[in-house]
Amino acid sequence: MAAVRVPLWAVCVLRVALATVYFQEEFLDGERWRNRWVQSTNDSQFGHFRLSSGKFYGHKEKDKGLQTTQNGRFYAISARFKPFSNKGKTLIIQYTVKHEQKMDCGGGYVKVFPADVDQKNLNGKSPYYIMFGPDICGFDIKKVHVILHFKNQYHSNKKSIKCKVDAFTHLYTLVLRPDLTYEVKIDGQSIESGSIEYDWHLASLKTAEKASAEAKEWNEATDDKAQEWEKHFLDASASKPSDWNSELDGDWQAPMLQKPPYQDGLKPEGIAKDVWLHQKMKNTNYLTEYDLSEFENIGAIGLELWQVRSGTIFDNFLITDDEEYADNFGKATWGETKGPEREMDDIQAKEEVKKAREEDEEEMLMRRFGGQDKNFNRFHRRNEL
Ligand SMILES: *[C@@H]1O[C@H](CO)[C@@H](O)[C@H](O)[C@H]1NC(C)=O
Repeated sequence: MAAVRVPLWAVCVLRVALATVYFQEEFLDGERWRNRWVQSTNDSQFGHFRLSSGKFYGHKEKDKGLQTTQNGRFYAISARFKPFSNKGKTLIIQYTVKHEQKMDCGGGYVKVFPADVDQKNLNGKSPYYIMFGPDICGFDIKKVHVILHFKNQYHSNKKSIKCKVDAFTHLYTLVLRPDLTYEVKIDGQSIESGSIEYDWHLASLKTAEKASAEAKEWNEATDDKAQEWEKHFLDASASKPSDWNSELDGDWQAPMLQKPPYQDGLKPEGIAKDVWLHQKMKNTNYLTEYDLSEFENIGAIGLELWQVRSGTIFDNFLITDDEEYADNFGKATWGETKGPEREMDDIQAKEEVKKAREEDEEEMLMRRFGGQDKNFNRFHRRNEL
């Protein structure tokens, strides 16, 4: 049998072909981003963004992103894309954020909106599907939010996920998979993962919903429903006694189990209905009935947040259905510039230390020379040349 040989390049092409990129934004075309991003005019006090790579960067052009420019402001800006549903598919939301101002209190997260969002009027009350990313305020709040909209309510992650608090660019990735697992990555490293159902405490929500539906059914139940319930609790291991006389004793029926297999210490009068529900629910596969991370009409991404001290830069936005594509995009953007960014910061830091030391020395000398500082300055400057 001849083996079919597939060259590596063909595999790569196939992979790229399989990925669907719903949105990708690197801000590489100068001021043209203003045609794609809509600043909300809902409040004239909303802060403004500019394109900037900041005080230090890995690459002057590639590191340009949206930077907040005014202290103590709310910000609201968003960009649209062709609406899609993530039903049955993986959803990945990824971007980079850099708090080069050393964030004291402010949001660094993104929100993903339904396609009918009113961009011009975007504000804190605009309904969203997902909120994801870091939030810092004082010593207490240093967390990565993952808020999911489900059945008209917002649900926060119960596991606390720590965010980065330094001044460097970091890559944040959220993966929601159709098997109801999720993963949060920072700088390409998985820092939290698990079940959407449990880590958002949505299991109890579903159970409560199911139980109330079942209870309603129970209340409306006819006699045969009640009999159906009884069947579950007839003692199946009992058999008709050999001396049973049907004519005298009537039809034999297996005895009811005295104590239903239920451990929760329910009150006796509460048992019947709950046990029946319990039995029924054991057989119900609700995972197929409830899609906790399914969003029908995803159509925009935005920054809707508050910052005390501005200067944060958002860049390299990506929404896709392909984890490998997201990995590669992260490596090609953040991965390439993170090293040089630290080098530039290092050089600047050293220069600052040097300058501060020189200033200190100057001040010391000035004090020693007292009122002759004018002459001294001239002398000192000359000496520096
Ligand atoms: C801001 O948005 C809200 C609804 O979200 C609306 O009621 C209000 O009129 C808007 N304000 C302006 C100035 O458009």
